[in-house]
Amino acid sequence: MRVLIVGSGGREHALAWKIAQSPRVTKVFCAPGNGGTRLVAENVPVADTDVAGLAEFAVRGKIDLTVVGPEVPLSLGLADEFDKRSLAVFGPSRKAAELESSKIFAKEFMARRRIPTGRFRVAESADRARAILRSGEFGYPVVVKADGLAAGKGVIICKTPEEAAAAVSAIMVERQFGEAGRRLLIEEFLRGQEVSFIVIADGAKALPLVTTMDHKTVFDGDEGPNTGGMGAISPSPFLTGPMFEDVMRTIILPAIAGLREEDRTYKGALYAGLMLTEAGPQVLEFNCRFGDPETQPQMLRLESDLAEILVAAVGGDVLANEVRWSDSPAACVILTSGGYPGTYEKGKVISGLEDVARTPGVMVFHAGTKFENGLCLSSGGRVLGVCASERTLQETMAKIYGAAAWIRFDGAHYRRDIGTARMGTLG
Ligand code: AMP
Ligand code: GLY
Repeated sequence: MRVLIVGSGGREHALAWKIAQSPRVTKVFCAPGNGGTRLVAENVPVADTDVAGLAEFAVRGKIDLTVVGPEVPLSLGLADEFDKRSLAVFGPSRKAAELESSKIFAKEFMARRRIPTGRFRVAESADRARAILRSGEFGYPVVVKADGLAAGKGVIICKTPEEAAAAVSAIMVERQFGEAGRRLLIEEFLRGQEVSFIVIADGAKALPLVTTMDHKTVFDGDEGPNTGGMGAISPSPFLTGPMFEDVMRTIILPAIAGLREEDRTYKGALYAGLMLTEAGPQVLEFNCRFGDPETQPQMLRLESDLAEILVAAVGGDVLANEVRWSDSPAACVILTSGGYPGTYEKGKVISGLEDVARTPGVMVFHAGTKFENGLCLSSGGRVLGVCASERTLQETMAKIYGAAAWIRFDGAHYRRDIGTARMGTLG
């Protein structure tokens, strides 16, 4: 089987690494890939947003399965284009992916389907948004969101009426997030612990992955601005067994059934960002893809054949195979460029990777890296993910931090407290 992976992050390196281990897989390609995917796959110079180019490559390259990492190609209709050409693809259609690409669609869908989520209102104009805020219907903090993909940046948590007014202007008047600012969402602020809940859906059924928790803010102690994710651990220390069942019953299965009934049949990874509130788990957002960096520790724990699972999902029977996971915890610590998630410099020479490669039990998944003239250079905000899976979380973190210290590049930054969250110490 020949597999194409679309994307260039740490998530895609982890997926490529795992898929390449399948005895059914003869060749893995990654478009466009990064400095790490080239170790397990052949990088193909086609942008992950070039839907027509990817489809042509899949035809020419006799690809049997395409696995889509990021959300943008899905929101551009990659899965629809592949379907039209009878190419097997793991990822939802454009209409199903609206669950992520339109926050308003997602909220209205959840309201229709009685899926637990915070109270919200939709505003079509800045005047209307200001009127809703003035009405006192929402207390403070209040959450103001642009209605589209804004690379995780179109969400503003406002502590005061002044901050809310500024958020409305930034989104709807100044259009800081472009077209995503045509409509706006005002949402109740939910308190609690945040967890990522990720399943593989086949249109009707769902295979839950092992639980995981992401560390979103850039600095230790959950300080500083939100990022794409600075580290992840699996399992999540916060999601207990009964809560897990509750999430499947009240959120995941109703979402998949609802989408099917509304002619948006969902095949692919479905990621529910949840807040564990006093009133139970509530949805903050849905993503139509695997998590990054959550995928990295999850793939370290997956003992079964990922290619087989994805083929079964595309074929409409994701529960066909028994899936085995390691009982050992796993974690990933992200090394970023200095300044990320703000402005940062690229092109820094990365050293120490060879030493780490010789350390048993440590896996480095690349994100923003490229190879040039035999050197590994940084090429993005999130640069590398250092991962391990040991008998205990403590041993896992010791292994990761020991290895991370070997890796050097100018401005490198990483959190030193990944894996230290305990029940009740956060949120
Ligand atoms: P989103 O992209 O909608 O998940 O928002 C990004 C981040 O903002 C989330 O991961 C949360 O940390 C935070 N957030 C979003 N919506 C809310 C909410 N209603 N209450 C509290 N925090 C929120
Ligand atoms: N780690 C957050 C995400 O994948 O959206």
